[in-house]
Amino acid sequence: MPTEQQILETINRFTAPGSTSGLVDGGAVRNIEVDDAAILVALAVPAGPPGPIDGLRTALSEALTSLDGIDTVDVQIQTMLSTIPVAPPQTQAQVQTPLPPSWGEKISGIKSIIAVASGKGGVGKSTVSANLALALAQADFAVGLLDADIYGPSQQMMTGATGSPKGTPDGRIHPIMAPGGVNVMSIGFIIDADQPVIWRGPLLMKALEQLIVDVEWGDLDYLIVDLPPGTGDITLSLCQNVDLAGAVIVTTPQDVALIDARKGLAMFQKLDVEVLGLIENMAAYTCPSCGNVDHIFGSGGGRRTAETLGIPFLGEIPLDPSIVVGGDAGTPVVSDRPDSPAAKAFVELAKTIAAG
Ligand SMILES: Nc1ncnc2c1ncn2[C@@H]1O[C@H](COP(=O)(O)OP(=O)(O)OP(=O)(O)O)[C@@H](O)[C@H]1O
Ligand SMILES: [Mg+2]
Repeated sequence: MPTEQQILETINRFTAPGSTSGLVDGGAVRNIEVDDAAILVALAVPAGPPGPIDGLRTALSEALTSLDGIDTVDVQIQTMLSTIPVAPPQTQAQVQTPLPPSWGEKISGIKSIIAVASGKGGVGKSTVSANLALALAQADFAVGLLDADIYGPSQQMMTGATGSPKGTPDGRIHPIMAPGGVNVMSIGFIIDADQPVIWRGPLLMKALEQLIVDVEWGDLDYLIVDLPPGTGDITLSLCQNVDLAGAVIVTTPQDVALIDARKGLAMFQKLDVEVLGLIENMAAYTCPSCGNVDHIFGSGGGRRTAETLGIPFLGEIPLDPSIVVGGDAGTPVVSDRPDSPAAKAFVELAKTIAAG
């Protein structure tokens, strides 16, 4: 079997298109996994014409296959639309080193970091995050919104923030100001949407760290963090590395979603993160023509669960089909239809959060 050193040297003989540094020295290596006779190498390189990138994949695969004891090589190359400061070269040994709990020092300009979480996917975390951020900005707070859903970023679409983040001379990146004044950062601004996200495990954590600490947030009253669903690594890593002011748990009225909300709560309690409360999304639906109120997904479950669990109930957001349209168009309901019951519910949520 080749040694780690031999593998790294082989990879470093190649350069990314347009670069003069070896792939390892230039920080293009995102992951290396060796499993018996198989090697997987994941690279992130600047976007460019497919020819040179395919050429790199072929040449690197051939070079690695020629190493003694290696039968199977998988070279995955992800193209980056913009230059995020690259992670230092990672080897398997380094990757296993835990990150130092030092993110807080680098983001000392942020007064309160609030995570928006759920035990289950699709309950409206991203919708709540975007509208809560906007409602806080409307109340004259300085607000940032971090899309921590690295595998399925949505804030680029939901907030209407467009463009590529600009770098600073010292290698940091500026967030993008969305309509309504919220500073947004999402992996969606950086990675080509057509490319699969290949970062995994600790490298995913590195990406999360960069999205928080390498961003010029400036002085913020609130950083709202839109988490991926469930209680996975990203949520865990955020809770362990950042001093969160608290977490808001989003649920829908169905029993299954409420069971998952309980799981989310248990995780935050274990990690000593204060749960600011439970918000019930997709609650009552009011028929626009007859005014009839229908509880499509059940009724009152969020309030009951919050009471049972002994956490504050932060309110209900009605089920409103125009939230879907606004979310897809980058026009959150808080700014698009400020007089709607849904927008008012988000404004109330912002008031409760701001009242602390
Ligand atoms: N109150 C609501 N009324 C109607 N539709 C809603 C409401 N809240 C969210 N939606 C819609 O439900 C879908 C899922 O919402 P969203 O993406 O915010 O959920 P999520 O919890 O962030 O999902 P994921 O777990 O995949 O990140 C979206 O199409 C969104 O527009
Ligand atoms: Mg989401």
